[in-house]
Amino acid sequence: MNAAIRAVVRACVYNNIKCTGIYRGFDGLIDGDFKHFEVRSVSKIIALGGTVLKSARSKGFMTKEGRQKAFDNLQKEGVDALITIGGNGTFTGAHIFQEEFGMPVMGIPGTIDNDLYGSDYTIGYDTACNTVIEAVDKIRDTANSHNRLFFVEVMGRDAGFIALSAGIATGAIAIMLPEKEMSIDELVSILDRGAESAKTSSIVIVAEGVANGGAYEVAKKVNEKYSHFETKVTVLGHIQRGGSPSHLDRVLASRMGVAAVEGLLQGKNDVMIGIVNDMETFTPLKETFTRKAVPNEAEIRIAKILSI
Ligand code: F6P
Repeated sequence: MNAAIRAVVRACVYNNIKCTGIYRGFDGLIDGDFKHFEVRSVSKIIALGGTVLKSARSKGFMTKEGRQKAFDNLQKEGVDALITIGGNGTFTGAHIFQEEFGMPVMGIPGTIDNDLYGSDYTIGYDTACNTVIEAVDKIRDTANSHNRLFFVEVMGRDAGFIALSAGIATGAIAIMLPEKEMSIDELVSILDRGAESAKTSSIVIVAEGVANGGAYEVAKKVNEKYSHFETKVTVLGHIQRGGSPSHLDRVLASRMGVAAVEGLLQGKNDVMIGIVNDMETFTPLKETFTRKAVPNEAEIRIAKILSI
C-alpha cells in the first residue's frame, strides 16, 4: 500500500492540493489521527511492505455516530475528499459514508485476495503470490527428498486467486478453490494417478476458504483414503501479507494512486480505480463488493492439464 500512498501524495503536491494522511483507517478518522503529508513525507517508502499509515478493522465506523464524528473531523481539518485503500470492507464503509455526508470518496483496491470486481489485479496480490511461490518451492525440496505429499494452505478469505496462480506457478498436482469445489474422492483419484505415474512428491494447494475446511481438514479426510505417500501440512498464514512489494505491485499502486487523485479532480465520486486490460477504469464502489470477481476459467483449465 505504501507505493499507492506515495503516489497519492506526490500527485496531490503536483496538482497543488493539500494532502492529509489518516492513520489506522476509519478508526483514525474517528479519532482525528491526522498528519499533513508533503512531497518528502513519502520518500523511500515505495519499497516498504505494509502501510506507513497503519490499518484497522473499525467497529466504530459501522455506527452512524462514528461516521458523524469522522465527518466532523474531516470538516475541521478542511478535507474535501477522501481516498481509501483497502478491500470490500473498506469500500462498503466508504460507500455508506459518501451517501450519508456527500463527501466525494475514491477507492484504491489494496488487498492480497484480488477479489474485488473492477480490476484485473489488486495491490498486494502479486507480492503475496511471489511469497507463496518462494515458500512452496522450498517445501517441494523437502517433499522430493522424503517422497511426501504436502498440503499447503494459502490466504484469500473466500476467494481462490492466490491458490490458483501459485498452484500453476509451483506445479501443484491439485488446487482446491472455493469457487470450484473438488470432492475428496476426486482429489484422491488425482493423487493416486500421480503416484502411479511415478511422481516422487506432490503438492496440493488449498485455498483457506474451501468448503472441505482448511489444509489440515483436507489432509485428514485424504489420509482416510490414500496411502501412497506420507502427508504433511503447512499453513503459510500472515507471511503472505508482508515483504517488500514486487515490481508489478509497485507500478500498479503508483498508477492507481495518481489516477485516484486525477479522478477526483475530474469530479468522479463513489468509485474504485482499477486496471482492466492495462487501462485505468473507474467502477462504482457498490459494484466492487456486490459483484463477484471470479478466477480465470482458462487458468483453471490449464492447471488441470499441466498436473497430469
Ligand atoms: O483480506 C486479506 C486477508 O489476508 C485474507 O486473505 C485473510 O483471510 C484475512 O485477511 C486475515 O485477516 P486478519 O489479518 O484480520 O486475521
